[in-house]
Amino acid sequence: MSTQLAIDGGTPVRQKPWPAWPIFGQEEERLLTDVLHSGQWWSVGGRRVPEFEEAFAQLQHAQHAVAVTNGTAAIEIALRALGIGCGDEVIVPPYTFIATASSVLAVGATPVFADIEPSTLNLDAEAAAAAITERTRAIIPVHIGGCPANMDRILAVAQQHGLAVIEDAAQAHLAEWKGKRVGALGDCGTFSFQASKNLNAGEGGAIVTSDPEVYDKCWSVHNVGRTKTGRWYEHHVLGGNFRMTEWQAAILLAQMSRVEEQAERRTANAAHLSSALAAIPGIRVQRAVPEVTRHAYHLYILRYTPEAFGGRSRDEFVRALSAEGVPCASGYVPLYKEVVFQRKTAGIGSWCRAGRPVDYGAVHCPVCEEVCGDAVWLFQSMLLADASDMDDIAEAIGRIHSAWSH
Ligand SMILES: Cc1ncc(COP(=O)(O)O)c(C=O)c1O
Repeated sequence: MSTQLAIDGGTPVRQKPWPAWPIFGQEEERLLTDVLHSGQWWSVGGRRVPEFEEAFAQLQHAQHAVAVTNGTAAIEIALRALGIGCGDEVIVPPYTFIATASSVLAVGATPVFADIEPSTLNLDAEAAAAAITERTRAIIPVHIGGCPANMDRILAVAQQHGLAVIEDAAQAHLAEWKGKRVGALGDCGTFSFQASKNLNAGEGGAIVTSDPEVYDKCWSVHNVGRTKTGRWYEHHVLGGNFRMTEWQAAILLAQMSRVEEQAERRTANAAHLSSALAAIPGIRVQRAVPEVTRHAYHLYILRYTPEAFGGRSRDEFVRALSAEGVPCASGYVPLYKEVVFQRKTAGIGSWCRAGRPVDYGAVHCPVCEEVCGDAVWLFQSMLLADASDMDDIAEAIGRIHSAWSH
C-alpha cells in the first residue's frame, strides 16, 4: 500500500519552509544608507555603478560591463549597438522568456525561431544554421535555466555566416563554458538582476563584452547616444535612458559577496538531487554537455513522462508535487504561440514592412513543443537548502510515482 498523497488528503512530505529569497544582511543596509546620505542617487558622477560594472565584468571573465535598467533593455541595447534593425532577422530559441524575442521586435527586426535540443533544452546549432536567410544578422542563444548553450557550435555557425552572437545570459550568472564564464564568449552577453535571478537587485541588467568597440556602442545607446568624451548635449546615435541607479548597484555589490558560495551550494545540491532522482522511472533531468564546467542552476528542470506515472498529466504532477510541499511550475509555452506573435501573423505578417513576412502561426518547433508539454521547474533558491532537503524533493516525487504507477 502506498502512502496517501497530500493532494488526496495525506500529510505532505515536507512542511518546513524553503530558504527565503532574497538573502540580504548588513552590507546591503550599509551600502544603501551610504548612497542615501551621499545624495548621489544616479549613476552620472556616482561611484557605485562604475564599481559594480568593473566587478561584474571581472566576475563574468569579460573586459567591460555596462549596467542598465533590466535584462530586456540589455538585449535591445546590444542589438542596437550591433546595428541590427528594420528588415534584419535574428535567430532565437522558442524555449525562453518573451524578452529574448520581443527585444528583436522592439528594434524593428524579425525574430526567427529555431528549435532546441531535447537534452540541454538550449538552441540547437543545426536548427539555427537551417534558419539562416540572406537577411539574418545575429543569433541569440539563451543559456536556459543557467545551462550554457553549445557555444562552440553556435559560434562556428555564426562565424561561417558572418553573424553576430548575443548571449542571453539573464539566467546564467557565473555559468561556465570550458572554464570561461558566459557573456563574453560571443560578441556580447546580457544579464538580468530581476528579483528571481541568482544575482538580484529587484530590477536591473547588464551587458558584458570583451570588444572595446561593442562596449563603446552599448555605452552610448544606454546613455541617450552620448559618448564618453562628448559634451552633455551631444547625441551621436539613437539611444535611450537605460542607466542603472546607484541604489541598484549598491545592492548588487553587496549581493555579489555571496554569489560564489551560493553557486557552489546550488551545484552540490543539484548533483545530490540528480543522483537521487536517477532511481525514479519517468524523470529525466536537463543534461549539460561536458564542455559546461558550471551550470548556474537558476532553474532545475526535469522532464516528466506521463506513461511512467500511470498516464497522469504533467499538470496533475505539478499540482501533486506542490501539494507535497515542493514548489514547482510547468514553465514556458513555445514563444511563437504567444498572442503577440500570433497577432502579428494575423496582421501585417512581420513587424517591419521592410522585413520578410513570417507566419508565426505556421512555425512548428517539435522539440520545444514536447518540452513545453513535459517540463517541470524547481527554483534556484530551493537549491540553497541542505542536501537533506534535496532528499525531500526526491521522496515527494518517488511517493507520487509509487501512488500513480500501480
Ligand atoms: C532568458 C531571459 N531573457 C531575458 C530576461 C529579461 O530580463 P528582465 O526581466 O530583467 O527584463 C529574462 C528574465 O526575466 C530571462 O529569463
